Amino acid sequence: MAASLDLKEEILALKKERNAVILAHNYQTGDIQDVADHVGDSLGLAYQAKATHAAVIAFCGVHFMAETAKIVNPGKIVVLPDKDAGCSLEQACPAAELAAFLTANADRNHYVIAYINCSAAVKALSDVICTSGNAVKIVNQAPADRPILFVPDENLGAWVIEQTGRKMDLWQGNCYVHVEFTRASIQRIKAEYPDALVVAHPECTRAVRLLADEVCSTEKMVAFCKNSAVGNIIVVTESGMLHRLRKECPDKNLIAGPTDLCACADCRYMKMNTLQKLRDCLATLQPRVEIEESIRRRAEIPLLRMLEQSK
Ligand code: 13P
Ligand code: SF4
Repeated sequence: MAASLDLKEEILALKKERNAVILAHNYQTGDIQDVADHVGDSLGLAYQAKATHAAVIAFCGVHFMAETAKIVNPGKIVVLPDKDAGCSLEQACPAAELAAFLTANADRNHYVIAYINCSAAVKALSDVICTSGNAVKIVNQAPADRPILFVPDENLGAWVIEQTGRKMDLWQGNCYVHVEFTRASIQRIKAEYPDALVVAHPECTRAVRLLADEVCSTEKMVAFCKNSAVGNIIVVTESGMLHRLRKECPDKNLIAGPTDLCACADCRYMKMNTLQKLRDCLATLQPRVEIEESIRRRAEIPLLRMLEQSK
């Protein structure tokens, strides 16, 4: 306990010395969330990154999130505690494969909507970016006279089709964490808490989404749980979310959605970041996120379009 207190003090001192801001995603461990300046979902953190006046951004999340912060802040230093913190969705859509698909289907003139969980190079090939928090809004603003290609999450994409009625071609990628929840695993926990509400992330499969009372981004889960009149709420997303929710909704009994194998689901990439690695990256200003300038400039266009369209 004393060691982690010292570490926290060291981080706060380094943050001041470096003129840094610490941004943390809702899936980070509780100790990291507690030391951060802002905790939120991909959309909220993208806005925070755009607005900050700090010289250094320490991004406690996964690589595509830190890269997003760098896209809108080319002049700032952006560090990520663990450079290997990736994402299965990002891996599912290599830029070369997307470029080849677009070339092979050039006659269709796709309007490409990329979920923010992708590389800067994929963003650079896209017309607009979206997050789980604004995907419906962004798809509703897509030009009516062009077919939409939605990359890289087939589950989020299918949910958006249900919400908007808009036809879209879906890239076949998924989040390896959210597809671990099954209809059977959620039915089992519902049987244990028959009066509980279920809130699920749209990266879950349709079979799981159908069991949910609400499907939304991690940030919207906070409002849903706060405003719920029911005390028991089953939260079907990555386990880090429970720390944020328990802090914000102390009057609620928040129950982690289980998978068939575990009582909750952890994202191994999100959990690569630790308090020690956060201290080290503020001390050394490494590892840094760098993006080739021509890619960054092209990726910034659809990202700024998203921020504009999602206001
Ligand atoms: P949110 O934008 O809803 O926080 O989702 C990010 C993510 O990686 C979900 O797995
Ligand atoms: Fe990617 Fe899934 Fe981890 Fe989110 S939870 S960062 S989508 S692998």
